[in-house]
Amino acid sequence: MKTIAFASLLIATAIVPAQAQSSPQAGGRYQAVLGDCEGCHTAVGGKPFAGGTVLQTPFGKIAVPNITSDHDTGIGSWTEADFRRALREGESPGGERLYPAMPYPAYAQMSDADVASLWAYMKTVAPVHNAVEPNLLPFPFNIRTLMAGWNWLYFKPAPFAPTAGKSADWNRGAYLVNGPGHCGACHAPKTLLGADRSAALTGASLQGWFAPEITGAKPRGIGNWSAGGIATYLKTGWSSHSVATGPMAEVVERSTSQMTDGDLNAIAVYLKDQPAGADMQPASASLRSDPAMQAGGRLYRDNCATCHGADGKGERLIFPPLAGNAILVQSSAESLTRVVLAGAQAAGTKAAPTAPSMPSYAWKFNDAQVANLLTYIRNNWGNAAQAVSAESVGKIRAGLSGGPSLANKE
Ligand code: HEC
Ligand code: HEC
Ligand code: HEC
Repeated sequence: MKTIAFASLLIATAIVPAQAQSSPQAGGRYQAVLGDCEGCHTAVGGKPFAGGTVLQTPFGKIAVPNITSDHDTGIGSWTEADFRRALREGESPGGERLYPAMPYPAYAQMSDADVASLWAYMKTVAPVHNAVEPNLLPFPFNIRTLMAGWNWLYFKPAPFAPTAGKSADWNRGAYLVNGPGHCGACHAPKTLLGADRSAALTGASLQGWFAPEITGAKPRGIGNWSAGGIATYLKTGWSSHSVATGPMAEVVERSTSQMTDGDLNAIAVYLKDQPAGADMQPASASLRSDPAMQAGGRLYRDNCATCHGADGKGERLIFPPLAGNAILVQSSAESLTRVVLAGAQAAGTKAAPTAPSMPSYAWKFNDAQVANLLTYIRNNWGNAAQAVSAESVGKIRAGLSGGPSLANKE
């Protein structure tokens, strides 16, 4: 089971720098990297683009279709116009409405030329016979015509329009982030119906992970990161501020690590210029003498300091810092809770192939102990964020499908 947009772990098969595009197909392969198409449309252990991955969405499960050139079960009988309509308007040739688990609201910004070269590439993908019934949603969300209503409410397909007065890099970044890269699919807050509330990248919950704010906010966003640091993170999964662990590790492996340096720099320039979201209530200073903080501090020194350091500074490129790490001070502690309970494995990329891992502690600590630990690391070394409750830890523990070893220890 996967979180929405949290698909199979794939090792990149080809790296095609944009500058080296000779044929339209090579360009199309790069478009597929930008849009992370292969990630969602390939099942674990399955053939590329043959579908079958099951996504967990706020409304229920949805299986990802086969988009190989197979005539019966893929899109082999489609025309380029069919493909363009599905990709940018969310409508398949039979007039069916696609669910926005397929990020067509973002792909709507893709240019005609980019869609054309992507189509040329899709036609070269080897046909795989694999019938997938995508609609596993419960009533009433399984009624596709409802999507017409959703589209009417939320979806205004619009091609990308450059912003006057901004640099070419900024505009390229805006296109990549809001268009093919669909970063907002995870990083933008959602309405109750699952639509992006606004284009603002101010952070959002993904059912057990939290995609943090990635605006120019300090310290919550990436305002303290250099453009080079952001590009390095997207290329390797690591920066001196943070490390990609969960869904973002997959985005890095399958998509951003294969983008050109120029495109990564453009994304960084654009993100750093995004306005901060509304400020959240920081923890009060009185929290320091709180018994929960004291208990959390003891657990930290005994269990975590060996790797992350007593000073929370970590070890460059081995153990991420916890001091000044924006992931720690997000409004939601979901990702943190999950990492401490279940452990994590950082992204392995071409540029940083060895991926160290974070042990899992679910077997060792009960919900209250995890809550104390998290409250401590969120409010020490200059970090400040709301305290974490044992109840919220319990909820996330219950959502992890790790068998009895992840059960709460009383
Ligand atoms: C976040 C996961 C995700 C990503 C990324 C994604 N897709 Fe999809 N795609 C889906 C899902 C889910 C559906 C099925 C939607 C439905 O049935 O309503 C779908 C449907 C489609 C369809 C319609 C297939 C049919 O048989 O009706 C096409 C074509 C398609 N995707 C192409 C692409 C391309 C090309 C890309 C990259 C630019 C891409 N997708 C990226 C999840 C994704
Ligand atoms: C599938 C959901 C998803 C998508 C799509 C996604 N992200 Fe993320 N991102 C996350 C999550 C979750 C985290 C935090 C934890 C983790 O998974 O490593 C994160 C972390 C980050 C961070 C580190 C922030 C910090 O403070 O440590 C940056 C920078 C980032 N993402 C940029 C991007 C960009 C740029 C894009 C689009 C190209 C993007 N993300 C697309 C889910 C996503
Ligand atoms: C054996 C070394 C080791 C120990 C001990 C350890 N960690 Fe980690 N931790 C890591 C590594 C390596 C990562 C990053 C790689 C990854 O996420 O897969 C990490 C990541 C994290 C993150 C996510 C940081 C981010 O930027 O996403 C948090 C939070 C964290 N650890 C907290 C803790 C806490 C709390 C403890 C003690 C209960 C602890 N760690 C003990 C090695 C360790």
